Amino acid sequence: MAEKFKAPRGTFDVLPEAMARRELVLRTAADIFSRAGYDWVSTPAFEDTDLFERGVGKSTDIVRKEMFTFEDKGGRSLTLRPEGTAPICRAYVEHGMHKLAQPVKVAYHGPFFRHERPQAGRYRQFHQIGAEAIGSDSPLADAEVITLLSDLVEELGVPGVELRLGSLGSLEARREYLEELKRHLHSREDELSEDVRERIDLNPLRAFDSDHEGTRAVMADAPQLLDHLDQADAEHFAEVRELLAAASVEYTIDPTLVRGLDYYTRTIFSFVCDRLGAQSEIGGGGRYDGLIGQLGGPDTPAIGWAAGMERILLALDEEVAIPGMDLFIAVAEDSQRAKAVALAGELRHAGISVEIDLAGRSVKGQMKQAGRVRAARTLILEDGDAARLRDMATGEEREVEPSGLLELLAS
Ligand code: HAM
Repeated sequence: MAEKFKAPRGTFDVLPEAMARRELVLRTAADIFSRAGYDWVSTPAFEDTDLFERGVGKSTDIVRKEMFTFEDKGGRSLTLRPEGTAPICRAYVEHGMHKLAQPVKVAYHGPFFRHERPQAGRYRQFHQIGAEAIGSDSPLADAEVITLLSDLVEELGVPGVELRLGSLGSLEARREYLEELKRHLHSREDELSEDVRERIDLNPLRAFDSDHEGTRAVMADAPQLLDHLDQADAEHFAEVRELLAAASVEYTIDPTLVRGLDYYTRTIFSFVCDRLGAQSEIGGGGRYDGLIGQLGGPDTPAIGWAAGMERILLALDEEVAIPGMDLFIAVAEDSQRAKAVALAGELRHAGISVEIDLAGRSVKGQMKQAGRVRAARTLILEDGDAARLRDMATGEEREVEPSGLLELLAS
């Protein structure tokens, strides 16, 4: 027998029922974005490798270990996008979007790719929903963007979510702090995990992320960035916190919060869910005031986030109710099938969702099928012009005129 194929490691197929749940999540996000004036955009699934090396940062795990990089037939190095912010900033610069009214507020969703070790909530192809507000350094933008994700989590009813908030300060303030942190790490080098020790000078902040026992002990005594913010950064952070409180968005300050991408400045945040295991972050993001300048554009402050579709669904534990069909048309006699086709066409054109039996089932089989497609009602066409309409929830039935059905269903 020929060998059968499987979806590649760390990837998965999304079958109809699961797809319906995703659509619901997306629709909720689309509503939230449009109510706040964020427009959908889409960028390519692959970009120049340099964009991520320069944008995300050479010392990050993403660039060091996780990128799907390949050479195209013209010898160019391309990479399947591991994240969406650098591509959106590339598009902002490429299309001269700094000439538009600022900030430019955009949203996106789609597949992203990271060569990570697969586990629950961590895949090699996953899907993000994200939002970016580019061109404002006001704390108002921070509060608005963070509120979008808070609304998404709330409107979907994701349980057990906590918002953690921190600030990395400006690049200059951070540089001074990093020197102090490196001195601390070097002074207790032998207690650190090998991975952290190797990266003391490259990326000392990642030490806060480690779950290695010795490293955690060293980090418990480490100097904290929040105590080293300069005055402007501290004031910015205080305003963000006030605005979030005014918007009734609850948060906890996390002085050790760090993120896995190098472009962040000032505000960073993370929405974590206690229902998820090791991969507990539903979504997160922050300010990246230097990124557009780094990518050759004018100095432009910006803030945004991305959330993982799979993590949202895991946290909801399939609690998203999938809507069913408005109507199933069953036939008592095969001679009624053409009539069922015509009626289904007419009702579908009028915007009503209708299914009919395509498999020659018996009446009993058709009623079962109506249940499977979660039809709200079933119309049973009988001899001549007779028809019965059954409410699938209550089991109540009544005689109806098929010609008056449209009005009846619309009511
Ligand atoms: P990130 O923290 O790398 O940030 O990813 C955002 C979210 O994507 C995570 O919170 C998680 O839910 C999901 N995610 C990441 N990797 C995986 C994976 N391997 N499998 C499943 N889900 C995953 C960013 O990507 C930034 N671009 C966010 C941002 C936007 N910052 C500013 N603007």
